[in-house]
Amino acid sequence: MSTTPILLDCDPGHDDAIALLLALASPEVELLGVTTVAGNQTLEKTTANAIRVLEFSGHTDVQVAAGADRPLLREQYVAADVHGDTGLDGPDLPPPRSQPVAQHAVDFLAERIRSSVRPVTLIPTGPLTNLALLLALHPDARPERIVLMGGAIAEGNVTPAAEFNIWCDPEAAARVFASGLDVTMVGLDVTHKALFTQAHVGRLAGRVGEMVAELLRFYGTFHRKVYGFEGSPIHDAVAVAHVLDSGLVETLERNVEIDTESELCRGRTVVDLWRRTTREPNAHVGVEIDSDGFLELLIERLNSLE
Ligand code: RIB
Ligand code: CA
Repeated sequence: MSTTPILLDCDPGHDDAIALLLALASPEVELLGVTTVAGNQTLEKTTANAIRVLEFSGHTDVQVAAGADRPLLREQYVAADVHGDTGLDGPDLPPPRSQPVAQHAVDFLAERIRSSVRPVTLIPTGPLTNLALLLALHPDARPERIVLMGGAIAEGNVTPAAEFNIWCDPEAAARVFASGLDVTMVGLDVTHKALFTQAHVGRLAGRVGEMVAELLRFYGTFHRKVYGFEGSPIHDAVAVAHVLDSGLVETLERNVEIDTESELCRGRTVVDLWRRTTREPNAHVGVEIDSDGFLELLIERLNSLE
C-alpha cells in the first residue's frame, strides 16, 4: 500500500488532538509535520497542545511549526467555552518539554511540500490563515489536495450562519476556495451526524484511550449543554478519516463562496447545492457520512496507540 504524505494544520483543540492521534495511528498516511494556528485558543496554547499530544503519544519525531497568531484581518477570537482555558482541558497532560521549530509554519509547509517526493495532502482543521499565507507567499508550493474541516451547507455553530474555522478568518477561507486547488470541505452537515457517545468512550482502551476519554468528558459538556447531544462530534478527525478512506464521506462537486461582507452571515460557506447559479464548482462538499464506519475506524486506531 502506498502511503499518502500529509501535513496537518491545526488549532488543538480537543477534536484536533484526536485527529492528530488518528493520523499518527494510520499506516495509510505519512505525517510530514504539524503546523499550528490561532483558533480554538491562542497560538501559544495551540502550539503547546500539539507538542503535548505528540510527546504524550511518543511521537517526538514529528516536528511542529507555529504559524499565524491571528486572522488575516479579523480580531482574534478563542473558543474557551468549548475547549477550556488551556485549549485541551480535561486530561492532566504534562507541559510540553520541547519547542516548535524556529521556522514559521508557512515556510515549513512550503519546504515540506517542495521536498516531498510524492504529492502532499494538506489537512487544515483550524482557521485557514496559514494556508492563505502559503498561497500568497509560496505560490509554487501547492499541495496536491486540501481536505479541510470547516464550513457547512445548512448549519452554523459559532453563529447561526457560520462554522467556527471559516468564521474566524473568512478572508483566508475565500482565498482557499478561490485558489483552484483540489479542495474538499468536511463541514458540520456531516460531522454532526457522527457523534462519539458514552458507549464509544467505554470501548476506548490503553493510556491513549484513557486520555481521549478524559478529553471527551470535558468536550462533551459543551455539546450536551448547547445541542442536547448525547455525544461529541469529532469534527477534525472526520477530515483525516476521509483521507484514510474516501468512502466514509460522500461528496458533491459544488460551488462554495464565502461571505466576507455581511456581519449577520460573516464566514458563511454559501454552497450552491442545487446548482442555482452559473458559478463553477470549486470544492468537493461533504453531504453524507458513514457514521458507524468512521466511529469504528477511530476507536480501532486510537486503541492501537500505545
Ligand atoms: O467548528 C468546528 C471546528 O472549529 C473544529 O475544527 C474545532 O476544532 C474548531 O477549530
Ligand atoms: Ca480545529
